Amino acid sequence: MLHSPNTAETDLPRHVAIVMDGNGRWAKQRFLPRVAGHKQGVTALRRTVQHALDRGIEVLTVFAFSSENWSRPADEVNSLMKLLALALNREVPLMNQNGVRLHFPGKKQALSERTIQSLAAAEMATQNNRRLVLNVCFNYGGRWDIVDAAQRLAEQGVAITEDSMAAATALAHVGDPDLLIRTGGERRISNFLLWQCAYSELYFSDVLWPDFGPEAMDHALNDFARRERRFGRTSDQLKTAGTGPHA
Ligand code: IPE
Ligand code: IPE
Ligand code: MG
Repeated sequence: MLHSPNTAETDLPRHVAIVMDGNGRWAKQRFLPRVAGHKQGVTALRRTVQHALDRGIEVLTVFAFSSENWSRPADEVNSLMKLLALALNREVPLMNQNGVRLHFPGKKQALSERTIQSLAAAEMATQNNRRLVLNVCFNYGGRWDIVDAAQRLAEQGVAITEDSMAAATALAHVGDPDLLIRTGGERRISNFLLWQCAYSELYFSDVLWPDFGPEAMDHALNDFARRERRFGRTSDQLKTAGTGPHA
């Protein structure tokens, strides 16, 4: 697979992925119900999208609901589904104003017919926008993504290779994240982008997601800018051999 090393011109990640974690703890600290944290989480996402636009990031991929989150109490799952519908209604016009194209990577089958339709409508309504791609991963799991891609290739009789798999996974339209941020203090991937994060830079922030904003994001971006992405090569090779893949 081809990888481009980080150079002066690419000090800004092209694609940032975020595990938006810490909503429940944010609410608990305030003696509020967990759903209040999720609501505030939507506001934090709006702020973050705006900052990504301001900084010129091309792709933002966020984890909103995991395959495993169905294990939460039914009323929390219901609240999250309702919040998604509400956020879509409210945010799509703003996304259009700002040139944001929406995608919802994840397993659609398990969602209600109404949810599936509103996700498709939001994707359609924003499909011509070109400033930023926003992938909201909903009912997404990294293992589901890999198995789903492999199953589709097998059904089509396509040989399974790194390239065919990459082209069949749920983020094929944007390529791999350069930087993966997780808020909320946990240091784990929790079944997010397993295939796509093979060479992403990881950044863990103790900030709870509802408190996340431009300042916390800039910390992550500045940290990223100081990393040396070697993709298997040595540091000396990067300094002497130019910047092309396999240089
Ligand atoms: C992340 O916040 C949002 C979702 C998983 C939907 P959490 O709800 O996991 O918050 P904590 O981890 O309990 O604080
Ligand atoms: C990961 O957070 C999923 C999302 C942010 C949507 P979780 O809070 O569900 O992760 P675990 O269970 O603590 O690993
Ligand atoms: Mg959590």
